[in-house]
Amino acid sequence: MKALILTGGFGTRLRPLTYTRPKHLLPIANVAHIEHVFDLLQRHGIDEAVLLTSYLAEAFYEVLGRAAGRGMKLEVKHEPEPLGTAGALRNAHDLVAGDTFFAFNGDVLTDVDLSAVLDFHRNRGAEASLVLTPVDDPSAYGVVPTEPDGRVLGFIEKPPRDQAPTNLINAGVYVLESSVLDRIPAGQVYSAERELFPAIVADAGMYALGTDAYWMDIGTPETLLQANLDALEGRYLCEAVPEPASGLSLSAPGAEIAASARVSSTCLGRDARVEAGAVVERAVLLPGAIVGRGATVKNATLGEGARVVPGAYLEGAAIGDNKTVELGNN
Ligand code: GDD
Ligand code: MG
Repeated sequence: MKALILTGGFGTRLRPLTYTRPKHLLPIANVAHIEHVFDLLQRHGIDEAVLLTSYLAEAFYEVLGRAAGRGMKLEVKHEPEPLGTAGALRNAHDLVAGDTFFAFNGDVLTDVDLSAVLDFHRNRGAEASLVLTPVDDPSAYGVVPTEPDGRVLGFIEKPPRDQAPTNLINAGVYVLESSVLDRIPAGQVYSAERELFPAIVADAGMYALGTDAYWMDIGTPETLLQANLDALEGRYLCEAVPEPASGLSLSAPGAEIAASARVSSTCLGRDARVEAGAVVERAVLLPGAIVGRGATVKNATLGEGARVVPGAYLEGAAIGDNKTVELGNN
């Protein structure tokens, strides 16, 4: 079975970090997010995937090489101009023709039981199935009311908070029959959430399965940081954090923490550095990022090669690659 992975969005909410890479390549526990998606697939015996790329597609080449090394067969379908979430799936029509396949929003970190989702889909004889997850504020997601047997009653994309009929939202994990793709016009922009799914719902062919598995859309600075903290503390279990613990920090090869620095709940990428007397709490440092002497960094993400000058204070921010945070900047 194949998995089609949507990885073509601009990642606007994660700017400036996504000016230089797709969000799917940002690190969770020092490993590119998309590789955690491959981990999930392989855990369920799925080792063929198609990346549906558009924005900064060439950045994925490094991942392709690593995926081959771990026995993952990856193909790429590229959209020179993004075709929307359904247009992107239609673009890969020839790769899944006649088959049942998984589709994923490529920015979702989860350990949902894919095998159970596939069983659910087959037992219902559904044309399309999706996973639902509970969230506190559904207004940033696709809200999906269902019948008790899971039949989807509607698809309400990003409603005002007080108008959401349930807090169960589209988790961005789907099992689809290839007939679904025949519903999508070829070569034009088309939305899965606003056009395709409502049409399938109207034909009573869409079913949803709730999960209490770990789930996070890493598409904002806050959720990207939270996903890293969840990996460090063991709420999201991954190989990159063999012994999760409260307050744990993780250092990639070449990363340095001065003896007098205080660092907690932080991921330090390759060659990142925290200098003497600095305080770093709840942070993600991409490769080569530097926190200068006596500086303080809290609830923040530093891009590749970004630098916080000695003595500066930075809280609640995402800093772009190679940028400098000066004294009194924040
Ligand atoms: N190839 C391609 N082409 N990929 C795209 C395109 C496109 O035109 N547009 C978006 N994507 C990719 C994004 O890169 C991301 O991996 C995924 O599709 C979902 O897009 P987002 O932009 O992150 O959507 P969202 O988070 O606002 O909402 C979606 O995800 C929620 C769950 O996280 C919707 O599917 C909601 O219904 C859902 O609840
Ligand atoms: Mg998203």
